[in-house]
Amino acid sequence: MFGKKTEVNKTRAWKKLESYYKKFRKTEMRDLFYKDPQRAERYNINLESVMLDYSKNIINDRVLAYLLALAKERKLPEKINAMFSGEKINISEDRAVLHVALRNRANTPIYVDGKNVMPEINTVLAKVKKFSEDVRLGKFVGHTGKKLTNIVNIGIGGSYLGPKMATEALKRYWAKDIKCYFISNIDGTACCEVLNKVDPETTLFIVSSKTFTTIETLTNAKTCRKWLVDALGEHAVAKHFVAVSTNAKEVAKFGIDVENMFEFWNFVGGRYSMWSAIGLPIAIAIGMDNFEKMLEGAYSMDMHFKETELGKNIPVILGLLSVWYNDFFNYHSHAVIPYDQYLQYVPEYLQQLVMESNGKFVSNNNEYVRYATSPVLFGGPGTDVQHSFFQMIHQGTSVIPCDFIVPAISHNEIGDHHEILLANALAQGEALMKGKTIKEAAEELKKAGKSKEEVNFLKKFKSFPGNRPSNTLVFKKIDPYTLGVLIAIYEHKTFVEGVLWNINSFDQMGVELGKQMALSILPELQNNAFGIEHDSSTKNLIKVIKKLRK
Ligand code: F6P
Repeated sequence: MFGKKTEVNKTRAWKKLESYYKKFRKTEMRDLFYKDPQRAERYNINLESVMLDYSKNIINDRVLAYLLALAKERKLPEKINAMFSGEKINISEDRAVLHVALRNRANTPIYVDGKNVMPEINTVLAKVKKFSEDVRLGKFVGHTGKKLTNIVNIGIGGSYLGPKMATEALKRYWAKDIKCYFISNIDGTACCEVLNKVDPETTLFIVSSKTFTTIETLTNAKTCRKWLVDALGEHAVAKHFVAVSTNAKEVAKFGIDVENMFEFWNFVGGRYSMWSAIGLPIAIAIGMDNFEKMLEGAYSMDMHFKETELGKNIPVILGLLSVWYNDFFNYHSHAVIPYDQYLQYVPEYLQQLVMESNGKFVSNNNEYVRYATSPVLFGGPGTDVQHSFFQMIHQGTSVIPCDFIVPAISHNEIGDHHEILLANALAQGEALMKGKTIKEAAEELKKAGKSKEEVNFLKKFKSFPGNRPSNTLVFKKIDPYTLGVLIAIYEHKTFVEGVLWNINSFDQMGVELGKQMALSILPELQNNAFGIEHDSSTKNLIKVIKKLRK
């Protein structure tokens, strides 16, 4: 099936890693820690805002040196510069990739096609500031003069996951009287459940869609528009609907005044867009000062990423470790576990960021890749997930490297809750690394008074293989600045992986086929029209569903 292959895995640095991996792969982290008391200090990057402990990885200095050589061979520093300077690195769409411009707090000029993009970014940011303040202060009010206190974001994918994740993460910074809701899914339930909770007179709908052609968003927006017009009349639309988009023509066609549109640009990918006007619900909820702090946090990580040598660079180290496990150990999953309830949507957000960016099989040379690209990312808040999928993380046959995200202080320091939470976060990393040998398990069982037969029977079940890698990111408390830092870390880590795999992390053509087919199935479900010829399974499913819906 496949033609010419891209052979990043045939380069000198990759080959060196491969042959060293064969010798090194059985190395036990327990031994590495035992032999080197300084290990935690050496494999650690400590910035003012965040500390990365990456010592619980199956690495030594040599592995790191080879990984860094691979990064240099793949010209990572040059590619970082290319992104920051507005080169069109999104080659399949011929676009620059400039989410970093959205938070370029130094306001240094960045050119795309000879034009400095900073003035328009600043203009839109000023518009977001003015509008969010007017809503918060009750200067921009609804059609009947009431304050707009229910903010409903209608959008999907990148036009939803970032604002939802960030508003939840920063809930403690919300204005007291404002509530945020999100409608993303085309499932009518998503719309109904939100509309049942809000009052038309006090509701502002933000229709967010980069393209303004996404069927889910437009269908939901139409339903919400009708709901509002039924309650308050057509004239109310201008006071209750705004749009965030790159597509003024479609916004106008939909019936939203372009005066009420917040622009962004094709050089911002949907999943990298929460720093743009897509962040409008965040700005309304937490206020523009806090929104700007979030931009500052991301900017500080941008500067770290751009200016720090590769070996001391957080996103670079995380990206290299990901390639090390994914392509050498064949560990094809990755779990992210925030130990903070406010960060509960971070894994969901990262799923799009990571898998839509790097789930690719064609290289930048327009050839098929011969190695694994994006791992499967999943996760959820600790300690909840310790009681669901952690069984597999500890004793499953697949090894799943983990990231633990750990704030030292909670926004809700009640009793000893947070200390228990922290103890669990740290215990997981240690348990995964050390494991428990069969001998240790047997001794424990003996001490617990089990008979010889019971000990022999149970000791394997009770043992843990250990040597399971994890990173720990520690910071003081989740605030707007730190959230900006954290999300920018993962954006840049994703970029590093894409560079190493020689893929374009900034298109998403893999989502198109299913959309196309849905459009052809829709008329078949709605009436007796026949679209394209389907396989027998799809044909039968259409028939059964139509019968059930009668
Ligand atoms: O279908 C995938 C996708 O294109 C994402 O990349 C994007 O974030 C999402 O759909 C929503 O797109 P839009 O913002 O154009 O509505």
